[in-house]
Amino acid sequence: MSDFGFESTADEVLEGKDLSGRTAFITGGYSGLGKETARAMAAKGAHVILSGRDQSKLDEAAKEIADETGAKVDTLAADLASLDSVRKAGAEARDRFEKIDLLINNAGVMACPYSETADGFEMQFGTNHLGHFQLTKELMPLVEKGERQRIVNLSSRGHHIDRVHLDDPNFDNRDYDKWQSYGQSKTANILFTVGLEERFGDKGIHSYALHPGGIMTNLGRHMTEEDMAWMRKRMEENAKESGQSPQGFKTIPQGAATTCWAATADELEGKGGVYCEDCHVAPQDDTDPTGGVRSYALDKDNANRLWTLSEQLVGDSFTA
Ligand SMILES: NC(=O)c1ccc[n+]([C@@H]2O[C@H](COP(=O)([O-])OP(=O)(O)OC[C@H]3O[C@@H](n4cnc5c(N)ncnc54)[C@H](OP(=O)(O)O)[C@@H]3O)[C@@H](O)[C@H]2O)c1
Repeated sequence: MSDFGFESTADEVLEGKDLSGRTAFITGGYSGLGKETARAMAAKGAHVILSGRDQSKLDEAAKEIADETGAKVDTLAADLASLDSVRKAGAEARDRFEKIDLLINNAGVMACPYSETADGFEMQFGTNHLGHFQLTKELMPLVEKGERQRIVNLSSRGHHIDRVHLDDPNFDNRDYDKWQSYGQSKTANILFTVGLEERFGDKGIHSYALHPGGIMTNLGRHMTEEDMAWMRKRMEENAKESGQSPQGFKTIPQGAATTCWAATADELEGKGGVYCEDCHVAPQDDTDPTGGVRSYALDKDNANRLWTLSEQLVGDSFTA
């Protein structure tokens, strides 16, 4: 059992670690949890590559992190809501970079009104899952050149809201619900982790999914007052149901801790395909509203079916 928990920060988790010689590629790297993860890893000597869709924000964050830590910070523009952009970014990355040891699939969009990616996928499934599926495929040749490689996928406790509707992931035949959509996309992040572990684990590339906690970041940009009230009520009711007091929010440094733990903890070596929260591996649990991972998100058959569906949707095969 890890010594770290709910209140641990990214710096605390990385204390005593030497990440020099390691390259970490982080999506959503210029804001919120991604930026703090990058800063904390850079402070331990990692070469970090920040990815995001806005080059000026990437440049600003890269300069800030490099100035603060003295680490080598590169940037790579990629819009996860466009397969064309992701493929171009992949080619550029393979050209410019030597290897990736830690791939942190952190970017995400939450509860946006219905919209579509450049390729016509529903935005949350398309960005949070399919964009990262394609990007990971593009970057895998670099990951294969790394050492003690880990792929960390930022999921969410929001995965409790819904499974992946393999027969209708893009809401073609059902009414759009922004929270069901977020839940579906975050379940997909866990199933993708299971699928990656299944295919690449025996090559020494291990994959981890996680819930970072509840943290006030730009992720809430689409939330209305009504959504905030609903979320507070849900947290209170869930806590009451489980006989605990509401957990409350984490700070951004606390929110980045589980990512840093999943990327570096010695006790996780060789033990991928799991879902972590508060710097430990969460138990499988189908009823606890305050934690745990739902069985539909760890199910290998679901993971394989999602993998095949994702290959069909992006029009590309992704094999080990
Ligand atoms: N904060 C929480 O309470 C919480 C809870 C559970 C899970 N998570 C997960 O944690 C991760 C990080 O979120 P955060 O809280 O740090 O939020 P954040 O500050 O909004 O960061 C999300 C990042 O994703 C990027 N992004 C969104 N759409 C993109 C696209 N099409 N292409 C490339 N990048 C895109 C955003 O860039 P732009 O600013 O350009 O849009 C932003 O940099 C997400 O996966 C989220 O689901 C967060």
